[in-house]
Amino acid sequence: KILILDFGSQYTQLIARRVRELNVYCEIHPFNKIPEIDSFTKGVILSGSPASVRQADAPQVDFNQFHGKLPLLGVCYGAQYIAQHSGGNVAPSEIREYGRANLEYIHVSNPLMNELPVRSQVWMSHGDTIKEIPDHFEIIASTDTVKVAAYQIKGTQTYGIQFHPEVTHSTDGKQLLQNFLIDICGCSQDWTPFAFADTSIQELKDQLKDDKVVLGLSGGVDSSVAALLLHQAVGKNLHCIFVDNGLLRKNEFESVLHSYQDLGLNVKGVDAKQRFYDALQGLSDPELKRKAIGRVFIEVFDDEAHQISDVKWLAQGTIYPDVIESVSVNGGPSATIKSHHNVGGLPDFMKLKIVEPLKSLFKDEVRRVGKALGLPDDILGRHPFPGPGLAIRILGDITPEKVAILQEADYIYIKNLKDAGWYDKVWQAGAIYLPIQSVGVMGDERTYENVVALRAVSSVDGMTADWSHLPYDLLAKISNDIINNIKGINRVVYDISSKPPATIEWE
Ligand code: XMP
Repeated sequence: KILILDFGSQYTQLIARRVRELNVYCEIHPFNKIPEIDSFTKGVILSGSPASVRQADAPQVDFNQFHGKLPLLGVCYGAQYIAQHSGGNVAPSEIREYGRANLEYIHVSNPLMNELPVRSQVWMSHGDTIKEIPDHFEIIASTDTVKVAAYQIKGTQTYGIQFHPEVTHSTDGKQLLQNFLIDICGCSQDWTPFAFADTSIQELKDQLKDDKVVLGLSGGVDSSVAALLLHQAVGKNLHCIFVDNGLLRKNEFESVLHSYQDLGLNVKGVDAKQRFYDALQGLSDPELKRKAIGRVFIEVFDDEAHQISDVKWLAQGTIYPDVIESVSVNGGPSATIKSHHNVGGLPDFMKLKIVEPLKSLFKDEVRRVGKALGLPDDILGRHPFPGPGLAIRILGDITPEKVAILQEADYIYIKNLKDAGWYDKVWQAGAIYLPIQSVGVMGDERTYENVVALRAVSSVDGMTADWSHLPYDLLAKISNDIINNIKGINRVVYDISSKPPATIEWE
């Protein structure tokens, strides 16, 4: 295992991703909360930071715990920090250096630089630079403008690099990280989805023994993969609850329920449509709709959890990005962690002990584990779908009739995307029901019906998104299919807004 100490750089998660891609397990911890260094820890990486080592309140790390004992790689701020604390001098760069640079000099026989070509392109992003290094440091790479682009403390396994090997613009960054992880730290590349599944199933067995566990399935990837892992660990002691809130896609409840049952999961489907429609009646404010749905979900889930006697654990599909404590350095270290369990006034199921088998995985790793466990492609490759479902894609108030119309439109849209090979090319797609009527003509008759908007976006994480450039022919076919088949819709429009300034959902 590799320990990554975070000084608040925007790239810290990316370092972890790259290490994991090399099949080496790693954990990110805030610089001021170093966990106990156990015998599994093979090396430490210090991240970059928006702070400067010259600031009086610069983040400080007690590195005596591992300095000289374990291989250490400082990246950017991390490199400057080691240099400064070993007798070197860090000063503001004359020119601020952001973007591409080339390593003009490389100490080719240095283990960290093994197999790196001269003029290797690297990505720089720093306002400070290491001006002087102490005698026991050796420069192992330089660019035209940055003399100390990489160094080693002679005779030790401590290294520093000014550039960012974790970004793809550093073309040989992966090789450099591999040199550090494999040759210097001696990590074995055995962190694979299969190995993760095996270890995690064994750990869950040890932790849960014969206890009963309850889990809310949503049809999404995370809760499904969590369910499969737990199922392999505790079998029928895992009680899954899948709630039909009446706001899912057409046929989704039945088809997903069948998939789960085919996988052998002990899953109870709960038809709570009416409870949700009742709670939503007359509500048109998006946040009020969200709140009502959240509240009813908790009520339904609590009722169901009570039906299971002696349940001890609540399982959740929480993933790594949700639990990494973020370090905000320029404003003082503030650790925020998404909390799933508060105290007081909670429904009974929330007082259960929590088990979160995916909390060390990134989203794409969850998918790989799901694949290793045999989760069908239609669940693995499913587009993200919001918890409040179609309720936030029907602008204004919700009625079962509007839901039925939108389900049809969405079904035609998604089916056409799949048939045309576009479903896997877009990150998320869906139809939106607008509370606007417009005039149309069908046969010889005037119509006055509603509008459906289509949305499809490309994105990496949903934080930013661009509208997908679907072919006109495909849009034309979808529009025709929707208008010709759905009574109540006589106009289809396509949403060409990016996020920001728009959002992916309309509410
Ligand atoms: P926005 O609309 O904020 O959506 O650009 C970003 C991503 O989040 C999803 N989303 C939600 N997911 N509950 C959820 O579980 C919600 O209330 C919610 N609102 C938006 C949205 O589908 C997109 O993937």
